[in-house]
Amino acid sequence: MSLKQQVEGLEKEALELIEKASDLESLNSIRVEFLGKKGKLKSILKTLGKLSPEERREIGQLANRVKEELEERLREKEKLLREKALEEELKKKKIDITLPSAWIETGSSHPVISTLVEISEIFVSMGFSVAEGPEVEKELYNFDMLNIPPDHPARDMQDTFFINKKGYVLRTHTSPVQIRAMLTREPPVAVIAPGRVYRKDADPTHSPMFHQIEGLLIDENVTFRDLKGILKIFLESIFGKNVGIRFRPSYFPFTEPSAEVDISCSVCGGTGCRVCKGTGWLEILGCGMVDPNVFEAAGIDTEKYTGFAFGLGIERIAMLRYRINDIRLLFDNDMRFNHQFKGIR
Ligand code: DAH
Repeated sequence: MSLKQQVEGLEKEALELIEKASDLESLNSIRVEFLGKKGKLKSILKTLGKLSPEERREIGQLANRVKEELEERLREKEKLLREKALEEELKKKKIDITLPSAWIETGSSHPVISTLVEISEIFVSMGFSVAEGPEVEKELYNFDMLNIPPDHPARDMQDTFFINKKGYVLRTHTSPVQIRAMLTREPPVAVIAPGRVYRKDADPTHSPMFHQIEGLLIDENVTFRDLKGILKIFLESIFGKNVGIRFRPSYFPFTEPSAEVDISCSVCGGTGCRVCKGTGWLEILGCGMVDPNVFEAAGIDTEKYTGFAFGLGIERIAMLRYRINDIRLLFDNDMRFNHQFKGIR
């Protein structure tokens, strides 16, 4: 058999086999058998050296054409077989799009956080910006510069957690952020500072960790009337236009004069109940005009500027709004409790 006939025979044989191949695996072995490094076409071409130049060219061209044709056919067949395989796969794995999807539990904002965000938004809408401070705070900022010297009885008002680092405490209130704001900003200053605070205290209305929001406004000619006006707007947006508000004289070392603010009891509406201990009023925040001693410690000109400050507990507000009677419910992380606040914001 001439070399030409051999190549043509090989072509015919390969084409038939490709035609018959029914899966990718057998197609691959056909490729290896005919076109591989040690395949049939290669071994025929090895004998090319013995031919005359004309014959060599002729057979060479023939072999190239056959090679290209077989490659082309292999590609086509492979595509066909892949499509067939996919079709069969899809037939097997039929997807029923009418089936209900798997239940995915969605999270919800914690009532303390949604109350914190809501309060912040009210003050931000009035032009206050949000300031922050560390939870491990300098005693200097948490006490001394707030007009609470070391031997002052006011230090007993707050059950402080002391830590091993000398001169530092877990902040007992957000008031030290006032000092930080005064040291880093030039008046006019209008900031609120929400955050976690710590006190050695635990019962149905006290938690060793809880949240406060501090407010501070410093400018020329700020008066107690400004403080009352701002707090009225705030309390009415949280508790409704009809809420009763009263200011009671009080004492805080960092404000003078100082006041505590009560709102009419949201449980009984003011007639007296267990929550308000029969008084019809609920204590809601502390406030006052910034004490000149504080301004002086922070280097603010007391001849030019006055200011007011206030501080309130977020848990207390959340408890009143959502009628929660034990603060510990807020921190137990019982999902049955937490899920009741889904969609509140
Ligand atoms: N820091 C006080 C506390 O934790 C709350 C407070 C009262 C803050 C009066 C103030 C204020 O800014 O003026 O009990």
